[in-house]
Amino acid sequence: MSETKSNRNRGFASRLLIGLSSAVCIVSFQNCGADFVPLSDADFASLGKFVCGSTLEESFGRSYKPFFNSATCVSCHGGSQGPKFALADTSLAYTEFLKTTQANIFAYATNQSHGGGAGGERHLAAITAAENNFNSCKSGGGGGATTTFTARTQPLILSATPTLALKQFTTLDTQLELGATNLGGARLFFQVRLDTTLEQPTYVVQRLSLGTGTSTVAVRGVGIRINGAVVPAATAFRNVDRVINPGTNPLAGQTPNGNLSLGAAVFEYPGANAATDTIQFEFEVLRSQ
Ligand code: HEC
Repeated sequence: MSETKSNRNRGFASRLLIGLSSAVCIVSFQNCGADFVPLSDADFASLGKFVCGSTLEESFGRSYKPFFNSATCVSCHGGSQGPKFALADTSLAYTEFLKTTQANIFAYATNQSHGGGAGGERHLAAITAAENNFNSCKSGGGGGATTTFTARTQPLILSATPTLALKQFTTLDTQLELGATNLGGARLFFQVRLDTTLEQPTYVVQRLSLGTGTSTVAVRGVGIRINGAVVPAATAFRNVDRVINPGTNPLAGQTPNGNLSLGAAVFEYPGANAATDTIQFEFEVLRSQ
């Protein structure tokens, strides 16, 4: 079973290379205007934005449990078949869930010869989403990492296309859902594209840039969430550690130069929906100094 997953990862490594090399392609700067779209709670719900519970058990109830029901695992693992991770009682189900591993759940869920056809590749997007959502609720997110993020942007709809496009948070002072609000008019820029020619839809996010206004801003350790869930594979900006002097906001017609990182975060996103997928950046440190 773990073989299924490592095969998948090997496949990803080669697709990563393809993604990286094509990320060097000519950049076209469309959509340079104000892309920021504030969303209401109702909008979030309709986007299926995942919200962690206050305990991992509750988060399990919101991530894996609906999957077990919809994929009909419940017909066996909700009754006589152990581990009984699909029991109706979330607390009992969670105790059973801890008797196996997330890797086993993934392997069985995507194995079409398991459970009389209950498993199968068709569940790839749903089980990946369940796993990502659950992992995003672990301490620091990303499956047991010890990182603590102190700032996070609000969600921004990506509207990604196969062509690289520049996007921006136009004023972080009012566009953070967590963290400081006194950033002197700092803006956050990035380029994004969605590659749909690979086996799985793959996002490329690159040239992360901070444009500063009146303040010097320190930035360290940047992670990415898509649709509210941490993307553990998007590690390209985790080593960012910069202090940006005031006045680096690009003038009209200028292109932000990737002053935080020239790297690219390339990650598969099964079930990508260009029209509704949102991105959030989160930071170990993001503050004026
Ligand atoms: C028709 C009954 C049936 C259905 C439906 C079913 N399973 Fe199973 N499952 C079994 C049986 C029997 C075993 C024990 C034998 C084995 O390991 O294959 C098992 C074992 C497992 C294990 C191994 C646990 C461990 O670590 O030992 C996992 C994980 C699992 N199933 C996940 C799932 C998931 C996810 C689904 C839904 C997509 C599912 N099963 C649907 C019958 C079923």
